[in-house]
Amino acid sequence: MKILILNGPNLNLLGTREPEMYGAASLDDVHALCVKTASSLGLEADCFQSNHEGELIDKIHAYGKLHRDGLAIGAVFNPGALTHTSVALHDAIKGCGLPVIEVHISNVHARESFRHHSFVSPVAKGTIIGLGVHGYELAIKGFVAVSQ
Ligand code: DQA
Repeated sequence: MKILILNGPNLNLLGTREPEMYGAASLDDVHALCVKTASSLGLEADCFQSNHEGELIDKIHAYGKLHRDGLAIGAVFNPGALTHTSVALHDAIKGCGLPVIEVHISNVHARESFRHHSFVSPVAKGTIIGLGVHGYELAIKGFVAVSQ
């Protein structure tokens, strides 16, 4: 059974981007943590990052099909700034029925008001916000916990 670890714009800069906000771990570190956590639960993590909305949508559609075919449990998704702007990501998740746990490394509600609204949250199974990169690990564990 697969689990998609999906990261949106600028998350490739983790480790060097505003480390006081996002921490010292690189995206490779996050991916390694996710692969390890998933495999300890009998899941195969497929890690993908893109700075392009359309590529994220294509991946969501592909995993919607894998989910329908019983081959994927869902996606852990940090949409980056697209969280706050993208009706298209909302529609993609809703349209293909992929279960998503939305993750934000920082506490977006303690930041600028333009980060307080998420287009993804209404179509997510749940959200994990402000727990640093541990949020990815907790989201993977959360998928398994709620599917049992
Ligand atoms: C983020 C929060 C977003 O507001 C921001 O645009 C990001 C990262 C987070 O993980 O805290 O790129 O999604």
